[in-house]
Amino acid sequence: MTDLSLKSFTAIDRVADLQTYIDALSAFDAIAELQELKQLAARRVAADMRILDVGCGFGLETLRLARLTGPGGAVSGIDKSAGFIAEARRRAQQAGLSIGFEVGDADALPYPDRSFDHARAERLLIYLSEPSRAVAEMRRVVRPGGSLALIEPDIGTTTVNLADRALVRRVMAHEADTAVAQSWLPGPLAGMLTDLGLCDVSVATRVLIFPPDLAAAYFASAGTSAHHDGAISDGDLAGWMEGIGELHRKARLFATIGYFLFTAAVR
Ligand SMILES: C[S@@+](CC[C@H](N)C(=O)[O-])C[C@H]1O[C@@H](n2cnc3c(N)ncnc32)[C@H](O)[C@@H]1O
Repeated sequence: MTDLSLKSFTAIDRVADLQTYIDALSAFDAIAELQELKQLAARRVAADMRILDVGCGFGLETLRLARLTGPGGAVSGIDKSAGFIAEARRRAQQAGLSIGFEVGDADALPYPDRSFDHARAERLLIYLSEPSRAVAEMRRVVRPGGSLALIEPDIGTTTVNLADRALVRRVMAHEADTAVAQSWLPGPLAGMLTDLGLCDVSVATRVLIFPPDLAAAYFASAGTSAHHDGAISDGDLAGWMEGIGELHRKARLFATIGYFLFTAAVR
């Protein structure tokens, strides 16, 4: 079974098979409820704007934003993965879009103050030990009157319909505690934005339903990780894998996660 550990997103260039993660992010990107959040976020984007996508991955959303801003706009994407940025550049070139992709760290953005109208990040902050540093950087590079959009999950809301509820709770508690640096990020995020001097903070939310193949791969990885760290026994892991596999084969696997869009204005 394909390994799909969220931990890999802190050092994606170290994974043996980058394509697996490209495919997983593409499958996730296609989820209807996530597309709704992205479209809500993109309401802040108009023709001719200067836009920054922080933690842009291989540019799935960055390319869409470049189409929205048109030839009079300027779109940039930054990510710490050289592999993802190479793929983003390849896709932009293939699509005939001019986008400034750079390898870099969200904690120290290599752009002057007030150089964008809008900055966005999607599934980035959960991987950072101090997300407020990256948000402060995004605020710094956006002009007064501009805006931020942040799309992040609450990993603690993940559900999967295995019959053994106690086992699900143990595996998913382990996942929330270990897979990302900020598993309960949406809770403090609005306060963080306000503390950083942003205003007009608003929140929208959707529950995302995992595509079945992605669910099978992801929950198998979560079980393997819990077993590796001693959170579940050999027998538990066998039951977990059998349960996920059987639900998947019968087209009965059902798994969800809560996602949040925070928008805020820079003053
Ligand atoms: C789950 S992926 C999301 C990628 C993209 N935003 C998307 O939605 O398809 C997380 C991304 O954050 C990037 N990342 C993690 N830590 C980072 C950091 N400190 N600075 C910049 N990018 C980072 C990873 O390389 C990865 O591309």
